Amino acid sequence: MNATATIRKRFSAEAENWDRLYDTRPSSIYEHNLWERRRTALAYAGRTPGRILDVGCGPGNVTIELPESADITATDFAVPMLRNAQTAAHDRRKSVDLAASDATAIPFGDETFDTVMALGLMEYIPSPESVLAEMTRILAPGGNLVISLPNAASPFIKVDDALKTTKNAVTQVLIPARIRRRVKALLGKLDAPYFTHNRHRFEVEAIANTLMQLGYDIESQKYHTFGFGVLNWVRLNQWLNRKLETYTETHPNLEKLGWTIVLKAKKRS
Ligand SMILES: C[S@@+](CC[C@H](N)C(=O)[O-])C[C@H]1O[C@@H](n2cnc3c(N)ncnc32)[C@H](O)[C@@H]1O
Repeated sequence: MNATATIRKRFSAEAENWDRLYDTRPSSIYEHNLWERRRTALAYAGRTPGRILDVGCGPGNVTIELPESADITATDFAVPMLRNAQTAAHDRRKSVDLAASDATAIPFGDETFDTVMALGLMEYIPSPESVLAEMTRILAPGGNLVISLPNAASPFIKVDDALKTTKNAVTQVLIPARIRRRVKALLGKLDAPYFTHNRHRFEVEAIANTLMQLGYDIESQKYHTFGFGVLNWVRLNQWLNRKLETYTETHPNLEKLGWTIVLKAKKRS
């Protein structure tokens, strides 16, 4: 199975779990990361009417929060995710056009949308440049691209990645497959390492250069989430995250330690 097929299969099986991450107020650093990137991206998308596309929409937790006044479309390549998104839109009485598609070949004409949004998508794309080019094609001149990227320079993400890789290596090698599968099934989990080889982390300057070459000006950017995912059970970790998030608002250099950056870039007319 190639990388894209593995990721699609994995997300297809994760639709329910993913939805639950937005159910109650965030209780872990991972959930905080999702909520904060949604909050920032929705603020960047603004409340103006227009045609908005949410690429890699998952079960629609961000899509359904987009402004009523907008003409909303959402795509994902995992069909179970789209089914959940449809239910979410129906429950909220929101009109959302949904389409199953790979982000590398979005089934819309050139310059169709005023805003294109992609949260938590770029890290799963084998060739992120191809998706940036595709999103640029369908975005109208003067339109906004709103994307989130995991920050390669974040010490929190580095520690988390190293520990996850070690944990995956140890559990895959030391625990017999049969026992591992049983234990995971009891915990309601899939027996697969969590995307160890396919998740990209981004050098923000390199991405900013790519965007400028594609014809964008960066209008806004915000880093967020400061804490160790592995210390989720330590209350102090959440407290530290809150303090650092406030502190970094006035100390821009420290801001660059955050897990995630959300960027708003305007396509030149
Ligand atoms: C981490 S989830 C994020 C969902 C949602 N945007 C959010 O922020 O809650 C990533 C989503 O991207 C989708 N995805 C990953 N690679 C994709 C691709 N190549 N084409 C389309 N969708 C993709 C997955 O199926 C999944 O639903």
